Amino acid sequence: MKILAIETSCDETAAAVIEKSGSDIKIFSNVIASQIPIHKKFGGVFPEMASRAHTEKIIPVVKEALKEGRSTKVKDIDLIAVTTGPGLVGSLLIGVNFAKTLAYITGKPIVGINHLLGHIYSNFVRECQMSNSKRQNLPQFPSIILIVSGGHTGLYLMKSHREITILGETLDDAAGEAFDKVAKLLDLSYPGGSAISQVAQKGDPEFFNFPRSMLDRKDYDFSFSGLKTAVLYETKKIGELSQKIKNDIAASFQQAVIDILIAKTLKAADEFQPKSTCLCGGVSANYELREQMAQAVKNLRTVSFHVPPMSLTTDNAAMIGIAAAYQDQSKYTTFDKVNADANAKL
Ligand code: KG4
Ligand code: ZN
Repeated sequence: MKILAIETSCDETAAAVIEKSGSDIKIFSNVIASQIPIHKKFGGVFPEMASRAHTEKIIPVVKEALKEGRSTKVKDIDLIAVTTGPGLVGSLLIGVNFAKTLAYITGKPIVGINHLLGHIYSNFVRECQMSNSKRQNLPQFPSIILIVSGGHTGLYLMKSHREITILGETLDDAAGEAFDKVAKLLDLSYPGGSAISQVAQKGDPEFFNFPRSMLDRKDYDFSFSGLKTAVLYETKKIGELSQKIKNDIAASFQQAVIDILIAKTLKAADEFQPKSTCLCGGVSANYELREQMAQAVKNLRTVSFHVPPMSLTTDNAAMIGIAAAYQDQSKYTTFDKVNADANAKL
C-alpha cells in the first residue's frame, strides 16, 4: 500500500510517499519546504504569512514528493493521509483542502491524522531509528511516550496501537516554546531550539542553577514558564551579556529542561513498567536530550529506548504517513468526511 501524506499544521509545508508492505514500512520521499526565512524576521511564526506560504508551496512540494517517491503518480497512490490538527487553522486548511481535492478527483480513500499521533509514530519505522544505525526494533507495548515539541509537551502511556492515554502535559509553555523564548532573550536566531543547543555546547550546564519545576509533585504534568522567567530575571540582573555568559545560560537552561523531562519519564517508567520508552517531537532533535535520555533509560536495563532519526524529529509528512499506515482500515474514508480541527485532542 502506497500512502501520500501531507502535513501543513504550522510552518513547514511537507509531503511524503511511504509504502507499507506487511509490517514493513519504507519511506520513499520526505519533502519539507521550511518557512524559517519568512518567519525569522518576526522571531516566531506569523500565522497569516504561514498560510500564504503553504498555498504557494503545496503543489511543488507534493509534486516533488511524488517524483522522489519512485516516480509515483497520484493514480498509483492507494491512500491519502493528511494532518487535521492540532495546529494553526489557516495552515491546516491548506493541506486538508488540498488532500480532500486530490481524494475527490482521484476517488482514493483519505484518512485524517492527529499531528501528535504523527510525532508518536515517527518511532514506528525500522530504518535508521538512531541516526547512524541501520535497522532497529520497533517500540514494544506498553510504551511510555514523551512528546516534546514547540506547541506541545506531554507524557503518554501507549498500551497498543488503539490505546493511548495521557499521563500528564504542560500547564503552560511547551518545552520547545521555552527554548524559543529563551533564545530570544539571548538574542539568538530563530528557531531558538537549535540555536540554544549550538551555543550550549560551549557553556557550563552547572553555572546557573535554574529551577526544575514540578518535580516534587506526584503527577506527570510539566511547567516551563517559571524556568523561562528565572532566565529572564538572570539576564536582567546581568545586563550586558557576554558570549561566555550566553553560552552558560543556554547550557544551564537546556540542562534544567533535560533534567525535568528525564525525571518525569523515569517516574512514569517506574510506575507503569513499560517495555519501551520513546522520545519524539521537535525538541527530540536536541543532541544532549537524546544522549542523556538514552543513558537514563539504559540504566533501567529492561526498557528499550527509541528516538526518531533526525529527519523525523521536527515536523514532517513521513510521520503522518506512518501513523496512517497503522490505522484501522475503518478509519479510511471519503473526501467529504475529513475536516481541519485546530484544537484536536489525541
Ligand atoms: O515538532 P516541531 O517541529 O513543531 C511542533 O509541532 O511544535 O517542534 C518545533 C520545536 C521548536 O520549538 C524548536 O525550537 C524545537 O522544536 N527544536 C529544538 C531543537 N530543534 C528544534 N529544541 C531543542 N534543541 C534542538 N536541537
Ligand atoms: Zn510537531
